[in-house]
Amino acid sequence: MGEHVLVTGGAGFVGSHLVDALIAGGHEVRIFDSLEPQVHGQDRQVPPHVNPGAELVRGSVTDAEAVARVLDGIDVVFHHAAAVGVGQSMYDIVHYCHANTVGAAVLLQEIVKRRSRIRKMVVASSMSVYGEGAYRTPGGKARSPRLRTRDRLERGEWEMRDGATGVPLEPIPTPETKPLQPTSVYAITKRDHEELFLTVGYAYRIPTVALRYFNIYGERQALSNPYTGVAAIFSTRVLNGQAPMMFEDGEQSRDFIHVSDVVRANLLALETDRADYEALNVGTGQPTTIRQVADAILETLGRTDLKPCVLGTFREGDIRHCYADISRARDLLGYAPEVTFNDGVRRLVEWVRGQQAVDGFDQAHRQLVERGLA
Ligand code: UD1
Repeated sequence: MGEHVLVTGGAGFVGSHLVDALIAGGHEVRIFDSLEPQVHGQDRQVPPHVNPGAELVRGSVTDAEAVARVLDGIDVVFHHAAAVGVGQSMYDIVHYCHANTVGAAVLLQEIVKRRSRIRKMVVASSMSVYGEGAYRTPGGKARSPRLRTRDRLERGEWEMRDGATGVPLEPIPTPETKPLQPTSVYAITKRDHEELFLTVGYAYRIPTVALRYFNIYGERQALSNPYTGVAAIFSTRVLNGQAPMMFEDGEQSRDFIHVSDVVRANLLALETDRADYEALNVGTGQPTTIRQVADAILETLGRTDLKPCVLGTFREGDIRHCYADISRARDLLGYAPEVTFNDGVRRLVEWVRGQQAVDGFDQAHRQLVERGLA
């Protein structure tokens, strides 16, 4: 039977896809979204992808009165509202702590007042809570290294080495048990999100699941937001006839997950109680290098003439490798990714082609350089 579902951030990239799936599943959906100018443009227009079958309420999760109103009659809360620029969080520190950490606190305080009605909470967390991914030594010993030192990065020594012995480390799938070592203000606020939700949910017996998203890409990614992910940035550049610009040597890797697989994980978390009070990785379990991302996009757009450019510089706080161990999500949610990287890139690129693609790379890069962060 359909439930009354609140999706904060439901006008955004992941939230809007989730809203579509919930409505298709017969739920009554209310979106609560501030329509941030950085994502939605200065005039804060409702984006065309917002499902007309949902009720849209504009407002901020930091506004307790507005939050109290939107919680009226709600059974299930998906919390996706957040400020999402990693680099930007390192200079807009107060804004990120307020929008994300205080926002989660306000939302939870209002939820607690209505706890008898709330059946489930699902909160969007991020792989950025890990910092570097998990590694092992050539002898097979597990390692959770800290960020590479600035000295080594300035010498262009990109790969991870063991702090004690200096031997090269090999990346392995990152399990949820890896120590959390966030390396940006954004990542700290995402750790706050999951810890606040899981702790408050557990204390009041409101079933809660935290999903640690790996690198999500796909249709509706905010293209004009210079802080958007690398797949969207590269697609926009190539469609504008410019080569992808790769930091480091392009061999750093991430776990790229198509947005539709993320939506599937959210629906599973809603349906089962087996993952209650757990934090789960939501990725594909496969590493992909940034060069492979560039090549796949160039190939898909028939622009292999635009050779990816190796910058040889680095972004402050960037990790080298991280990809998900998805066994916990598989066991508890019955989750398995369905979209291959090549299919996902085709879907992203087809969508980007129909958009007014403004290339934000130069602006974002300039702002990081001005602040000594790249
Ligand atoms: C991203 C998100 C973060 C989210 C996390 C997990 C951004 C900025 N960060 O972090 O919010 O929590 O995924 O989903 O959206 N790169 C280039 N050229 C570019 C842009 C990036 O080489 O033009 C490189 C970066 O240096 C990095 C890699 O691509 O090595 C990935 O960068 P990015 O897409 O920003 O993702 P993360 O930093 O991993």
